[in-house]
Amino acid sequence: MKKNIITNINRLKTEKNAVILAHYYQVAEIQELADFVGDSLALAQAAEKVQADIIVFAGVHFMAETAKILNPNKKVLIPDMNAGCSLADSCSADEFELFLKKYPEHIVLTYVNASARVKVLSDIIVTSSNALKIVNQLPANQKIVFAPDRNLGAYINAATGRNMVLWNGSCHVHDQLETESIINLKLKYPNVPLIAHPECKGPVLEMADFIGSTQALLNFTKIDNNQSYIVATEGGIIHQMKKASPNKSFFVVPANETCNCNDCIYMKMNTLEKIEHVLETETNEIFIDDEIIIASLKPLKRMLQMS
Ligand code: 13P
Ligand code: SF4
Repeated sequence: MKKNIITNINRLKTEKNAVILAHYYQVAEIQELADFVGDSLALAQAAEKVQADIIVFAGVHFMAETAKILNPNKKVLIPDMNAGCSLADSCSADEFELFLKKYPEHIVLTYVNASARVKVLSDIIVTSSNALKIVNQLPANQKIVFAPDRNLGAYINAATGRNMVLWNGSCHVHDQLETESIINLKLKYPNVPLIAHPECKGPVLEMADFIGSTQALLNFTKIDNNQSYIVATEGGIIHQMKKASPNKSFFVVPANETCNCNDCIYMKMNTLEKIEHVLETETNEIFIDDEIIIASLKPLKRMLQMS
């Protein structure tokens, strides 16, 4: 059955000159099928270079929007229109616009996990892969508002000595990981290092031996000499970690003792069946008003230039 779906998807891709871009948080079978798999930055960079007529974005809505902004003349399809993001949803454009009125002298740095309308209100977009690099290129006395992730913002403040004003948003996956779960894993697996995504809370990051974006965490497990890791992030990345280092062990930090729910419910809405369906019917197309495309392209292009 799965084999038939994969054969059909590949046939449709060739017939329609389509590509599939997938985030590392997709289920393993989608990662295996995709033409390109990456973190948010790599996917934006890949989207900028796409030659195909159709992009199927196996990720969440803001990522598909970003691909559309970078490719206004291409058809961008998302397998499930409900694949949103709790972090992007924690920052509505109307509320953010009001918030920014309090900080007229500040420039606005926005994590890519935000709607196109919030991107329009921003000066530079960042991802977890390039945030430190971009902040370090700004003058030391530059006043900055950072949105929407308070944990990533606090991490950047601590790492750079800045005092960015933070929007109070968070990701439901990373924000629920607690130090208690890590202590329990550390008791079970002594001397195993903790690696964590900067969307995790401060106390979790303080315990971490390495902090990085999804791509940085993956790279670290490839080059580091340890044989096992406690991993504080979304579970989808474990597929690539195991693939790159089949002899290493990875222990995912559970949200709590009764729940292993560190899957992003939105990322996991995408399935092979839904990819086949949107390719077949060309439904679930991303549409964005021209003026929003033009205005949000500016801060996105600044990010790509500064990365
Ligand atoms: P990165 O892909 O930049 O690591 O971000 C993680 C994430 O939460 C994506 O939604
Ligand atoms: Fe959004 Fe968090 Fe899911 Fe990433 S993992 S898409 S930040 S809800």
